[in-house]
Parts: sequence; structure tokens; C-alpha cells
Amino acid sequence: MRAVDIIQKKKEGGELTADEIKFFIEGFTAGEIPEYQMSALAMAICFVGMTDREVADLTDAMMRSGDVLDLSAFGDKSVDKHSTGGVGDKTSLVIAPIVATLGGVVAKMSGRGLGHTGGTVDKLESIAGFKTALSGDEFMAQAKKVGVVITGQSGTLAPADKKLYALRDVTSTIDSIPLIASSIMSKKLAAGSHSIVLDVKVGSGAFMKYMESAKALAEEMVKIGKSCGRRVRALITNMDVPLGRAVGNSLEVIEAAGVLKGEVGGDLKEVCVALASNMVSMVNLIPYEEAMARVLDAIDSGRAFDKMKEWVAAQGGDASYLDDFDLFPKAKVVYELKSDGAGYISKIDAEKIGVASSLLGAGRTKAGDPIDYSAGIEILAKTGDRVARGETIARFHTSSEALVAAAAEKYLSALSYSESAPEPEKLIYCTVE
Ligand code: URA
Repeated sequence: MRAVDIIQKKKEGGELTADEIKFFIEGFTAGEIPEYQMSALAMAICFVGMTDREVADLTDAMMRSGDVLDLSAFGDKSVDKHSTGGVGDKTSLVIAPIVATLGGVVAKMSGRGLGHTGGTVDKLESIAGFKTALSGDEFMAQAKKVGVVITGQSGTLAPADKKLYALRDVTSTIDSIPLIASSIMSKKLAAGSHSIVLDVKVGSGAFMKYMESAKALAEEMVKIGKSCGRRVRALITNMDVPLGRAVGNSLEVIEAAGVLKGEVGGDLKEVCVALASNMVSMVNLIPYEEAMARVLDAIDSGRAFDKMKEWVAAQGGDASYLDDFDLFPKAKVVYELKSDGAGYISKIDAEKIGVASSLLGAGRTKAGDPIDYSAGIEILAKTGDRVARGETIARFHTSSEALVAAAAEKYLSALSYSESAPEPEKLIYCTVE
């Protein structure tokens, strides 16, 4: 078999066999097939697409390129959740402890933020002492004892995807549904959970800007998961506006803990409850409504908050931060951003808000950059709110006044105003299963 013939076949619209896909992915992972040939195949896939069978074979080949976690010790109770990425998306921090109090085992690997989106691992590291690198034995022991463990992505999990993702990033081959679906699902399947809930974000702050492509991606991922014997459900949720009111690492942990303490409601709580209820219904094989009643009770009773503290402490974090938010290091500069328009906020470009937060120090421009955990944004006015010119609409947290101007310009450019109140936006569009 020759890589060049496989590229040619795909370029001409052909359907690759499982053996051809395996040959390519194995060769690429081993460094025998060079990056320029992998890039050429990825570009051909972008233009020509793939059949469902090809996507399943590509996912399988990437999943098998490294370790596959064995969570069989938890039977059908292991459950994972994956978000396609957004701004202010701290749902994992809220959901994992809820689900662990209701029979699920959330043994999960999460990513760091890059570009305009945040990452769960960075958020957790804003809690003093929290360890995001655990050995395999520590990971399993904590899953058994506490029911929740979240670490950084192990380098040995789906290494083919890691290599391919980095290549796609610089060859303009990201926005292909077969490539995104196989990338996400290869990691989720290798991570071993029996049930998987996918949060497919759609809108200005998401990867998928339009409903049609979000639905197609959700359908593809659900098909792949099911063909591998997993229970899978995807929710398509709104990312036209940041989720909740906090963007930035420690600010997001505080907001997430606030949901479990009963202090924060709104869109964040609604999306968390929907995702957690789906996970609980899949783990316990109970109707969604019953699962939702249990989820709300876990929050109202304080059990989910207690579980969050138990989880943080088990991973070496100082859980007293969650009781007393003043313990989180504070930003040196807190700047009040004033509105430059008047009327109802009719639209927020969520991606720009993510970029503004990153400019304040909350994100990285390239992998490995240092991060300012206390930096970020408190959003005081969201879509549908009426504001006067000069009113404070956001609070910036940063280490230096010099970072404020560029972030303010970006933030203000994200907002549109109208004279009449905009139609309220839906938060959860549909479920794909
Ligand atoms: N997230 C992933 O893990 N892979 C993609 O291709 C896109 C988003």
C-alpha cells in the first residue's frame, strides 16, 4: 500500500477501506507517513467528505493509536461528557459532582483552553494545590472512592489525534465534520466511559456557527458512539452568548461552585441541569423527568456541593476555597467597563468576549504560555438587558492596566444594541440520540 495512492483515491471521491485508513493512521502515528501526506489527505477529506463507515473506521484507527482506558470495573456506571467548546463553559465543574452523587462515575480527562475558549484543567488549577496530573492508579482509586476524577489529557490517549489536530490547526483543515467527529470520538472512546453526553455548541462563540452543521456533527458522533456499543446522546446548545456571567479561570470556578451552593441560577444552571439529567437518566436507565428531579434535589440538599469539596480535596486542592471565595487570589486591577451604546443588548459575539478575556491574561495564544488564573471578565449585562450609555456593563479582572484598552475595544465591538427587546433565545435547541 502507498500513502500517495490513498490520497489520490480520496481526492477522486473514492471510499477508503478500513485497511487503507488503518495503514495511513498507523503510519502517520509512527512517523513513517510524513505530515505533508497526512495534510494532503486531510484536505481531500475536507473537500470530498467521508461515508459514515469511513468516519467510524477513522475514529477506530485513531482510538487504537494509543492507550484505551479500561473502566469496566464500573460496569455501566461510568459516564463522560464532552463539550465542543465555548466561552464561559464551566459545566463540567458543576455536573461531575452532581452525577457522582446519583450513581454515576465521572472519570474524565479534560483539556486546557486555547484561543478564545477556556479549558476545565486550567480552571481547576486555579484552586491552590489541585493536581491535574495523576498516575493511572491514582486516577482509578479516586474514581472508585469519590466517583469523580478529572485530569489533563494523557499523552498516550489517541496520540494520532493529537498529532493530526496540531496539523489541522495550521493547514486550514479543522472545519470538516468527519475530521471533527472522529477527533472528538476517538478521545472519548479511548477514555473508556460507557455512557457519553455530548454538548454540541452552536453560535458565535462556538466552533459550529450554524445549526445545520451542529446537527450533522451531533448525528455523526452519536452514530460512531453507538456503533462502538456506548450509550450516547448529544444536546445542541446555544453559544451565541457566553454561558453564565463569568469568563476566566478562578471566576468560573467561583460561579460553578455558586450553582451548587444555590447562589447562581440562570442559563448556566439550566444547561448544567439538562446535561446532568441526561447523564443520570442514561446511567440509571430512568426517564429524563425523574433524573431531573434527582439532579435538582442533589443541588438543593447541598449533597452535590459537598461532593465537589470531597473531589477537590481528594485531588489535593484546598476545598476551603469553595466555602470562602475570598481565598482565591485577586486580580491587581479591577476595571469597570462602561457601555458605549444605549438600548437593549440584541447580540453578543461570544467569541470576541472570549478573546477579550484572553487579552486580560486568562488565556494563551499558544500552548504552554503561562496563564493568569485571576484574570477574566464578569459580565453584568447580557443579551436582552437594557442599558444606558455610560452604564457599567462588565468588570475586567487583570494584572495590569496596560492590558485593559485592547480588551475593552474587543468587548465593546462584540455588542449590538436595538431599540426594542430582542426575542429571548433558546438555550437548549434539541437532543440527538
Ligand atoms: N475538538 C476536538 O477535540 N477536535 C476537533 O477536531 C474539534 C474540536
